[in-house]
Amino acid sequence: MRRYDAQDLLRSFFRRSFLLTLLFAALLAVSVPLTRNHYAVAEYKADSLGIATKFLARELDFDLHEMLTHPDAPLIQRINVFMEYSNLVEFRIWDSRATVVYSFADPQLKGKRFPDDRELLQALRSGTPSTEISEATKLENQSLRGHGALLEMYVPVFSGGRIVGAVEIYRKVPPLRLLSPQNLLYAAAALLLPLLLHVFFHGQFKKATLELVQSSAEMREAYRSLSKNSLDSIRAMAKALEMRDTGTQEHSEQVVALAVLLGHRMGLVPEDMAGLIVGAYLHDVGKIGIPDAILFKPGPLDEKQRAMIETHVRKGVDIVDGVDFLCLGLDVVQSHHERWDGQGYAQGLAGEAIPLTARIFALVDVFDALMSKRPYKEAFGIQESWEIIRQGAGTHFDPRVAEAFLALGQQEILTLRGEVQRQGVHALVRQATDALFNTPRLHQCSLDDH
Ligand SMILES: [Fe+2]
Repeated sequence: MRRYDAQDLLRSFFRRSFLLTLLFAALLAVSVPLTRNHYAVAEYKADSLGIATKFLARELDFDLHEMLTHPDAPLIQRINVFMEYSNLVEFRIWDSRATVVYSFADPQLKGKRFPDDRELLQALRSGTPSTEISEATKLENQSLRGHGALLEMYVPVFSGGRIVGAVEIYRKVPPLRLLSPQNLLYAAAALLLPLLLHVFFHGQFKKATLELVQSSAEMREAYRSLSKNSLDSIRAMAKALEMRDTGTQEHSEQVVALAVLLGHRMGLVPEDMAGLIVGAYLHDVGKIGIPDAILFKPGPLDEKQRAMIETHVRKGVDIVDGVDFLCLGLDVVQSHHERWDGQGYAQGLAGEAIPLTARIFALVDVFDALMSKRPYKEAFGIQESWEIIRQGAGTHFDPRVAEAFLALGQQEILTLRGEVQRQGVHALVRQATDALFNTPRLHQCSLDDH
């Protein structure tokens, strides 16, 4: 990811998270006045109930039956004072049979019975006070119409441990203004605070992210440089081996270029392509441990000498196993002499038990050997080499790999070989290795991974 990509991502993240924060802040700004009003109402209810309960505890400390039958004038006076003081509009007394005994607002209600008043019956039955805010629409409340919303309270009255009636009180509800200056102030704070926090934390987040991106770019560059150095060392090692082996430096670049071309056609994933390239350079590294007398013997080898040559696979594995980067080529080093029919060495693997990179390289290695001059043979022509590969499909070589190779066509392969002769490291190989260097990956490996 390049730096401007990170900037774009941050901008996009800021836009989206800002919108979300704005939505959250708006919800908060709306809910704050509503919540404040809700608690104001709850507080008003509790306060009203407290006042009523206190009055009743003080003023109704008498025999209710007595009071109900002979309404006492001083009590009525005290009720009048209480009503004025407490902002009440009605003070109604009920007996336990839901009959009105006294009504401040509508004296004509006295003696009337309202057995369908659910809240009253609830208070008489449960013995617990209740409060609610309503428009006073009940039948018995005609005299209260026009007051708007009222706080309605039922407070049961006890005498001798029994519920003998209830007091019903209506109190005016003070106007609750949603858009009061105080509510607006709280709403503005609720709106602005999340947005300010968002801007502040986004700044911190952006700074940390850009530092992380910068440090990641430096690490990628370090990895790229390390990988390039490792590959240069591998190339040097391959050249040194080749100069000892054939006196030329061309074989390794030829096989690497053809392996990359064929690997692309076979659709190798980047990890396998890395293994194929490193393995192609290092495939015969084990020959460093083979005596010159056997390695460079011009004539045919006896059985013992051939067995000695074959140990170059094991020796190669010992060299690259567990070494960072080199071990990417382990599959090719270990299995490049295996055959599809199981007649190869060093493990005698067959078919798809042989790693794909090794199957690809085995064909490429044989083809290049056929096309090259050796101390014991002249170089074959393209036609003859082509035919040998074709005949080896399904026995020596993976038939799918052979098919992909033959599909390349003789001309394309000859062109590639000519370009390698002129360029050294082929452009295809440069592209493939550049792509690998730009893709950080773990390159520690060993036989235990296989
Ligand atoms: Fe080999």
